[in-house]
Amino acid sequence: MDRIRIVGGRPLDGTIPISGAKNATLPLMIASLLTEETLILDNVPRLADVALLERILGNHGVDIMTSGKRAGETADHGQTLHISAARIVDTTAPYELVSKMRASFWVLAPLVARMGEARVSMPGGCAIGTRPVDLLIMAMSRLGADIEIDGGYVVARAPRGLRGGEITFPKVTVGGTHTALMGASLANGTTVIDNAAQEPEIADVADCLNKMGARISGAGTSRIVVEGVAKLCGARHAVLPDRIETGTYAMATAMAGGDVLLQNARPELLQAAFDVLAQAGATVTPTNQGVRIARNGAGLAPVEVSTAPFPGFPTDLQAQLMALMTRARGTSHITETIFENRFMHVGELTRLGARIQLDGERATIEGVEQLKGAPVMATDLRASVSLVIAALAAEGETIVNRVYHLDRGFERLEEKLGRCGAAIERLSG
Ligand code: UD1
Repeated sequence: MDRIRIVGGRPLDGTIPISGAKNATLPLMIASLLTEETLILDNVPRLADVALLERILGNHGVDIMTSGKRAGETADHGQTLHISAARIVDTTAPYELVSKMRASFWVLAPLVARMGEARVSMPGGCAIGTRPVDLLIMAMSRLGADIEIDGGYVVARAPRGLRGGEITFPKVTVGGTHTALMGASLANGTTVIDNAAQEPEIADVADCLNKMGARISGAGTSRIVVEGVAKLCGARHAVLPDRIETGTYAMATAMAGGDVLLQNARPELLQAAFDVLAQAGATVTPTNQGVRIARNGAGLAPVEVSTAPFPGFPTDLQAQLMALMTRARGTSHITETIFENRFMHVGELTRLGARIQLDGERATIEGVEQLKGAPVMATDLRASVSLVIAALAAEGETIVNRVYHLDRGFERLEEKLGRCGAAIERLSG
């Protein structure tokens, strides 16, 4: 199993290219199931989760072709995928695959919308909590699907097609909103989705669906209206930049000190996080190439933050912010309101000398003068990158074990940080 070795204490200076968003790429790839024509996706990140979803879609009969590099292109350019679901050969998504990546449960809606039935394994719990799918099932049943739970599988049937309906989510859910959007696009009649997730990845997927012939308005707000159409067609769409990767490298720069251009980053996708960073003492400057982030000399100020659905502070940046606050001059409070158990990083950060107390969903972080390198364990995707951030400022060597978690969501992390001066390397095996 690969490990990452970091020797802390070096500032970051240079440019980090931001990749396409993982959390938009996955539902965009899944949306290919809605049409028999080819969907072309540009700016797709090279991630383990993308490769795994390629396998999962392959199981349903989807063909995926990756374009070779064109002249002048480097690994910094995303890949282009040509995805064709001309013939769906299997409407079952088995436990072995869905349990490896929760988002693959989202194939449920397009499979039922197009094929009239699907059998998709329930994903089960994961490192950050129980993560139920009841609201995704509710959305499908509001669209007229008959639902049965059988042997750990959700079996959904709508032999005469889905029909438009009113879906009001009692809680904001990204996966629920994707499910409702994809199902409603091919449903008979109009669907109104209330209390929809407003995350930029929802608007990106809706944009792509509209290019495919869907009639969606209001995506990116809390009320989305979808007029169902009988058929969707092929389209070409470039994935939006990854706001979580952007925020992660912004926090890394704030932690290590230095001056980094986050190339292609779009500040409006993570205003809440940039506001917190500015409050902590970093300088955030939008430029025509992306966003520049700098911290020179001055120490970090503590902050009070609660995670919230977009446009609030993202739960996917909670662990990274906590790593940063371990070295603030004073006491910070971070409250996690989205996932009940998303504090696996706390124990590992403590191994590096952090002082963190947990009280239910609220963490109190008392800044320390200096962290000290140690062997630590990556536990989930965002938690593991928080250890990298801490290690960048820790005295001596940190070894991060189980980096396959990182590879799920961060493309060439060690290369991107290394090019900016970090002492970081991957140890294979
Ligand atoms: C997506 C993101 C993930 C991010 C999360 C919240 C992807 C691939 N993943 O996950 O990175 O952390 O949004 O921004 O885009 N809930 C229910 N019942 C349901 C569904 C959700 O109670 O049926 C709850 C969840 O337990 C959680 C909250 O709703 O407390 C939000 O979850 P949701 O937005 O659905 O997260 P995901 O779509 O799984």
